[in-house]
Amino acid sequence: MFLFFSLFCMKFSFNNKTIDIQRFPKTKNATLRPWNASDELIVKHLSIRDLSTAKLLIYNDTFGFLSIWFHEYQPKCIVNLKSGKDAIRYNEKRNNLTQGTVLYPLQLKQDTKYDVVIIKVPKSIDLFELYLQEIHENIGERGEVLCGFMTKYFTKQWLTVAQKYFETIEQTKAEKKSRLLLLKNKKEIVESVQPIVQLEYNGLIFRQYYGVFSGKHIDYATQFLLELTELKETEKKVLDLASGNGVIARVLLEKYPHINVQLLDDSFLAIESSKMNLTPYNATFIHHYNLEPIAPESLDAVISNPPFHFEYEKDISVPLSMFTQVYQRLKKGGRFIMVANRNLSYKKFLQKIFNNVEIKAENTKFILYECNKL
Ligand SMILES: C[S@@+](CC[C@H](N)C(=O)[O-])C[C@H]1O[C@@H](n2cnc3c(N)ncnc32)[C@H](O)[C@@H]1O
Repeated sequence: MFLFFSLFCMKFSFNNKTIDIQRFPKTKNATLRPWNASDELIVKHLSIRDLSTAKLLIYNDTFGFLSIWFHEYQPKCIVNLKSGKDAIRYNEKRNNLTQGTVLYPLQLKQDTKYDVVIIKVPKSIDLFELYLQEIHENIGERGEVLCGFMTKYFTKQWLTVAQKYFETIEQTKAEKKSRLLLLKNKKEIVESVQPIVQLEYNGLIFRQYYGVFSGKHIDYATQFLLELTELKETEKKVLDLASGNGVIARVLLEKYPHINVQLLDDSFLAIESSKMNLTPYNATFIHHYNLEPIAPESLDAVISNPPFHFEYEKDISVPLSMFTQVYQRLKKGGRFIMVANRNLSYKKFLQKIFNNVEIKAENTKFILYECNKL
């Protein structure tokens, strides 16, 4: 098993087979890789199994490594992110493969019983549970689930969740600081629980699927932004960028019913949650990971608590490229209002893009920025 890396591609070889995988969207952080040792361990673990007649499901494959490696077995691949789906499509092309089946969570039709299910354990325990619920409903009685992870991220809560759905839970030996949890013998579940939580903020009720950002309460940075943000009368076309459960859009629409809000998020479960929270309002939903679907110079205001993590990795190249795209989508006179953790120090980056950048408020944890396109 070996891999080699160049500036242009990253190849993985095992048992005389090679695949070529790149991160998508590309990142400026050259230290970030498109797969990790737990993906390699899954490949190795399954290499002694005959998968030729197995029905295979893959959950949470990050940049298509597993989908591409197991492509010949026609797996169904379930990803939550639009960028995850496009990463699989991008790497299929790079490897001259036909398009396989890629679905979002909640979309799997219950018409097949699967024999082997692979899951890269997500950072969110709630999302892990949502995936295990779906797997439990779709796996055959003799089916097996392989959960891949880096040992440094292991938490006993994974076992607690897994025990709700499976009788037998084993762990492999660690290799290159990664391990697998093997789940077998699905339990009988009498009453299934809907993977939805309910939150309250300022008298408003929000519902969201497990694994959507800030599942215990509305995020404190977002609360800071909402308490201090007022729209001008002229601001009618508004974007809630990286919208999560839609809390920013909903609070603005309650206060300013005449505005039209677009909500954009990379996460399918976030967009589906925001639809639950915004259905009777003047809102449209965009499931995407950049601002390309939005026309240039079409927005009066963009409001955001932007992401800076991808699972366990911190990667500010994502928000930084969003800031440039925000500038391009704002009309002249438009405003970008954004909250961020103090330690991210975005001011110097924003000043390279916007004519005018002000810190409107700050506390020990957060900074609220207002950027104007003059
Ligand atoms: C800090 S949360 C804010 C969510 C919501 N606005 C709130 O305040 O609760 C950031 C959101 O960005 C989303 N996200 C991450 N990367 C993204 C990208 N490239 N494009 C769009 N959304 C992204 C995540 O799914 C998450 O919902």
